[in-house]
Amino acid sequence: MAMVSTSCSQLTVLRRSCLKLDSPQSQSFIPNINSNIRFSSSRKASRTVIAMAGTGKFFVGGNWKCNGTKESITKLVSDLNSATLEPDVDVVVAPPFVYIDQVKNSLTERIDISAQNSWVQKGGAFTGEISVEQLKDIGCNWVVLGHSERRHIIGEDNQFIGKKAAYALIEGLGVIACIGELLQEREAGKTFEVCYQQLKAFADAVPSWDNIVIAYEPVWAIGTGKVATPQQAQEVHIAVRDWLKKNVSDEVASKTRIIYGGSVNGSNCAELAKQEDIDGFLVGGASLKGPEFATIVNSVTSKKVAA
Ligand code: PGA
Repeated sequence: MAMVSTSCSQLTVLRRSCLKLDSPQSQSFIPNINSNIRFSSSRKASRTVIAMAGTGKFFVGGNWKCNGTKESITKLVSDLNSATLEPDVDVVVAPPFVYIDQVKNSLTERIDISAQNSWVQKGGAFTGEISVEQLKDIGCNWVVLGHSERRHIIGEDNQFIGKKAAYALIEGLGVIACIGELLQEREAGKTFEVCYQQLKAFADAVPSWDNIVIAYEPVWAIGTGKVATPQQAQEVHIAVRDWLKKNVSDEVASKTRIIYGGSVNGSNCAELAKQEDIDGFLVGGASLKGPEFATIVNSVTSKKVAA
């Protein structure tokens, strides 16, 4: 599988207006959204379209976090190898470092491999760290950076994460760049401010956006079973795309995949996938179950709607 695919989907990409930007809720939540990035389809009603504002391919990542044993991972890989996955989706899993080699040697090539972290510069005397060069050496094509567990438990800050992303990209890894607000930040009305600051730190550091997937993961939804509603996710995703349009370029805004993470499971993925600015998912707990992860990958079919 291609390491990074941001080319236009084979399928017709049309936009569908999902969020009423003039609703009171939207006004309070997303001031100054640039409605120029929306347009409606004039196609005939019976036409099958893709409810997707971005032009990038659907992307689903499984973040296994610090879970698993040799035995449980053997079972998970076997389940993933026998799953039927929709073809038009980039699928990536991020095992714990110590199992990457095992997974690389047993997982179908249909699924790409990501690390969950990487060191900020070339390897050397950095006890306990794993370098980008080592990750490439064992077959990783991606790395997750800026995950909330690293921000809020380990204490990584925006600038450090930006530097890590820049180094990984320069050395040829794709970056799953995570952003997202804490519950108290959302309650204080700071969701957009926090996400924009996190985005800016990436934007200030990275050499290009070609190999970046943005994962919007509200911290209050991660591992809590409390998923954002499709509307809550969509309003942040559209704001992120708009931020990219204003601060990077139209092209980057259109082609960058903006995926949602936070308690995604086999039951809620279809409704989330229907949102036009949700280009896929980053999945934690539910990615540890092969059949359920496959269901989430296959939720790309929910993007096909009758216009
Ligand atoms: P969750 O984790 O799906 O278990 O909420 C998501 C993530 O942290 O990427």
